[in-house]
Amino acid sequence: MLHASLTAHPDHVVGPVHRRTFGSFVEHMGRCVYTGIYEPDHPTADADGFRGDVADLVRELGVTTVRYPGGNFVSGYRWEDGIGPKENRPVRRDLAWHSLETNQFGLDEFATWCRRLGIEPMMALNLGTRGLQEALDLLEYSNHPSGTHLSDLRAAHGHPEPHDFRMWCLGNEMDGPWQVGHLDARTYGREAGRVARAMRMADRDLELVVCGSSGPGMATFGSWEDTVLEETYDAVDHISLHVYYQEHDGDLGSFLASAADMDRFIDSVAATADAVGARLRDPKKIQLSFDEWNVWYQSDHHAEVAARSDDDWPVAPRVIEDRYNAADAVVVGNMLISLLRHSDRVTAACQAQLANVIAPIMTEPGGPAWRQSIFHPFAHTASTAAGNVLHTELDSPVYGTARHGEVPVADAVITHDPEQGTATLYAVNRSVGTPLTLSADLRTLAPFSVAQARVLAEDDPYAVNTMDDPDRVALREAEDIELEHGRLTAVLPPVSWTAVTLTTAP
Ligand code: AHR
Repeated sequence: MLHASLTAHPDHVVGPVHRRTFGSFVEHMGRCVYTGIYEPDHPTADADGFRGDVADLVRELGVTTVRYPGGNFVSGYRWEDGIGPKENRPVRRDLAWHSLETNQFGLDEFATWCRRLGIEPMMALNLGTRGLQEALDLLEYSNHPSGTHLSDLRAAHGHPEPHDFRMWCLGNEMDGPWQVGHLDARTYGREAGRVARAMRMADRDLELVVCGSSGPGMATFGSWEDTVLEETYDAVDHISLHVYYQEHDGDLGSFLASAADMDRFIDSVAATADAVGARLRDPKKIQLSFDEWNVWYQSDHHAEVAARSDDDWPVAPRVIEDRYNAADAVVVGNMLISLLRHSDRVTAACQAQLANVIAPIMTEPGGPAWRQSIFHPFAHTASTAAGNVLHTELDSPVYGTARHGEVPVADAVITHDPEQGTATLYAVNRSVGTPLTLSADLRTLAPFSVAQARVLAEDDPYAVNTMDDPDRVALREAEDIELEHGRLTAVLPPVSWTAVTLTTAP
């Protein structure tokens, strides 16, 4: 048995729990949109063609914000193709995913879908094949109230009220050589700065996100952020971070340590942004938008799109439809712990993606929708994290990993909501074979009783949910949880994610 201990104090606050932490991502890619959230012929579809069964799962997942329409897709996208009467919309090639885009779903449908589900849209601009004028046109169409050519066009399309999109990503992964219209950092930074300043002339209060690196493994990581922020510091609010992890070659120990790498990534970007601010003598703090994160078995999929012949352009093909196991869910739960722990800087985050494509929700065309394993820690955290994130002092044994060096076996964070009188501890045990006893001294929170305790752990960490067995991996009641005089003791099984909600009011 391993042992770890932690303490937290209600006055030692990292930052508020940002609702945008529980964002997701809908890209025109594979079956995320078509037969994912949108399938007019589906038995549960509403009058707009939105799948009702998927909408119910999205509500249950607790998604607050959704980034759209890409991803790599956006860098070749013409937003005008997706508006107006559907029979007039053109079919186009999508070079990013080598498929055909029918444009039957566009920004007006997306805005309607978001409004119906109470989701805040996060829009991405095409800075790959397009630039300033198209960005301003899209902004006018989306947000201007009325009385101009493009706002009146929106009204003529059945949307008299402005969509009022507040948050805009200035392109996507422009550091990536795979990106349509990929740019070097200086050129991209200047272009993003021009677009941002012009957008602010239309609406000063927009929230603008400049592209950071596509991941900490990029050769340009660090210098990219430095250069891009040097060109845009005055004009943007956020810089983006993207990362995906997977288990490589059966090295489960390294994979379970992914969130430790995510912690370092976040700290490095925050430090780089602050260094640029210091150099520019600008006291403003740039926020971090972690607008793509997840587990993704990328190495299994490289061939999928590349192998398609030049004359093969499928519509909504099955691409990167990863089947997630219990260990993947533990890593996803741990990545949420990392995001919460950085609530002073990470103020928005999007799990990529929402349906079918590396997603918590899977669907069959004309058939059912079900929850993947990674659905559970996301939904539970989104529904329980509230109030403030507390500084959590953790004393844990460590273990060595091939990919991420020495990391703590345990990881944990606590959120505390003084108004509701609740606190929730989220914890993982990264050990592959040994249970861990976590002792938490929470006397300053005056916890009164355990309201609920849930655990995700399977004897087989590779167990998955399927259409025929959709609840094979789920949250279960956590046993071995004790609270005595403000001291909580929890036995965490190997390869597990646990959440314990305490009532702090009698
Ligand atoms: O989410 C899948 C892809 O991953 C996105 O299109 C791209 O931005 C990233 O590389």
